[in-house]
Amino acid sequence: MHLRCINPDCADTLDLHDRALECPICGELLEVVVPAPSAAPADLKRTWRERKCSYDPRDVSGVWRFREFLPDSYGEVVTLGEGNCPLVEGRKTADWAGLRNLRFKHLGWNPTACFKDLGMTVGVTEALFLGARVVGCASTGNTSGSLAAYAARAGLRAKVYLPAGQVSLNKLAQAVDFGAEIVHVAGSFDVALERIMSEARGSLYFLNSINPFRLEGQKTVMFEMLEQLGWQPPDYVIVPGGNLGNSSAFGKALAELHAAGFIDKLPRLVIVQAAGANPLARLWRSGSTELEPVESPQTAATAIRIGNPRSWKKALRAVQQTNGFVMDVSDEEIAEAKSMIGRDGIGCEPASATTLAALRNLAEQNQIDRDATVVAILTGHALKDTDYILKSQFAEPALQGVCCA
Ligand code: F0G
Repeated sequence: MHLRCINPDCADTLDLHDRALECPICGELLEVVVPAPSAAPADLKRTWRERKCSYDPRDVSGVWRFREFLPDSYGEVVTLGEGNCPLVEGRKTADWAGLRNLRFKHLGWNPTACFKDLGMTVGVTEALFLGARVVGCASTGNTSGSLAAYAARAGLRAKVYLPAGQVSLNKLAQAVDFGAEIVHVAGSFDVALERIMSEARGSLYFLNSINPFRLEGQKTVMFEMLEQLGWQPPDYVIVPGGNLGNSSAFGKALAELHAAGFIDKLPRLVIVQAAGANPLARLWRSGSTELEPVESPQTAATAIRIGNPRSWKKALRAVQQTNGFVMDVSDEEIAEAKSMIGRDGIGCEPASATTLAALRNLAEQNQIDRDATVVAILTGHALKDTDYILKSQFAEPALQGVCCA
């Protein structure tokens, strides 16, 4: 296993545990190259299933259970039992969107209530392996809470850079609760990311999703989803897009599993952005080959209020390899979809509801077969942003009466 530059014209390789985050030759992002495991797919599928009956912490983790596809030179891993999130059937939501085979993969049911834990278990394990003392990230909220939890677990200091006044209080409270040092940055997430990247290199191990080890962990969402579907890939996987690490990780997982003979077809990966923070959707529509950042991204789905996503090339590659596409939805559509997911007894944070909003639009415009099998990825728990819920629900006069009674 080693690191490789994603630029096909460069493809420089580095040692797996090199601390570089970008290619030293051309400056592009790096990725972990995972050789296909020697065991046959059927045997490994059985091994992964059998590990569910084990109490070994690496088997209890829904990430490390799939370690044959992960960097695995670690004696001990930093885990909080992440992963193992169910696929929940969409009922009212499916009717509302006009679909017959809708399932939600709810990553909000992770230790810190979002998908970031899947990446942090690998990223913080790598930090510890390298002898780092301080880990850090910029964040719209979820990454910071997750980083803080895993750092606390590992006995490391966590330093998080947050866009001042733009992070949900619930998420801020998590970072505080886990003992992170907080730097409030005037400006957007993009500004906070620039700040930490310019100030903190060297002393601090950097754990935003340009860190390739984060993506290795997040990759396992696709492994677990496919296992839950009896290794029959769905027609579509729909995922919200912000900094575009998660969609990149999913594309990598699908490509690796397909190449190694674990699945015989690829689901189409659909990335959904908020209309006010939609640089990749714009690129997709225009057919351009260069991303134009959105200068002042705006959306009430604060988790994905990002104008200059760092992993856009990886995400675009994932969409192209899977014959997928990129789209966006308005804040009003997100709000409506979010309340529908709540009415299905599931709940999620606003960014996650982009998925259902997009599906309804696609079905209405006959761009998706009503019988298609669809998995929508819910990235965060409803309790991640209670202010959003109360503000939007109390604004409805019918509900005000109910609350005052
Ligand atoms: N959904 C939620 C709930 C998120 O918190 C994020 C990103 C995304 C979707 C988008 O994922 O960036 O991999 O495309 N949150 C980051 C953070 C940026 O700092 O918590 P992505």
